[in-house]
Amino acid sequence: MGLERRDALVCRELNNQTKRESATRAAQGKKQLARLLEFTLNGRDRADAVADNVLLLDYLREKVGLTGTKTGCDGGECGACTVLIDDKPVLSCLTLAATVQGRRIDTIESLGADGQLSAVQRGFHEKLGSQCG
Ligand code: FES
Repeated sequence: MGLERRDALVCRELNNQTKRESATRAAQGKKQLARLLEFTLNGRDRADAVADNVLLLDYLREKVGLTGTKTGCDGGECGACTVLIDDKPVLSCLTLAATVQGRRIDTIESLGADGQLSAVQRGFHEKLGSQCG
């Protein structure tokens, strides 16, 4: 994805700083600035108020409850947080949720159908790859 190790380390620090600031604001009872996002998530239209500084990874896991998108290195190195945005793989730990306006996001949860695992999900399950993206 064209990221150098130095870039990943900078992104990790920015992620951590964003999380610290969000926790501080929440502890102080301050509201986050939010915007209404409309996008498609796993084939369904969705509209949600999302704070400007929320990472897509945190939004998917904590607000939507799609925990198939994993937190690994939290800094752009491992790929465990990969989702598809308009069919292109993106590291959700380096992507602000606010950038998905009007786009289509697919997570690992979109792959199965009718209660059956997809070939990709079955492969991860059989190889104990639960922490991989
Ligand atoms: S690249 Fe490791 S969690 Fe995103």
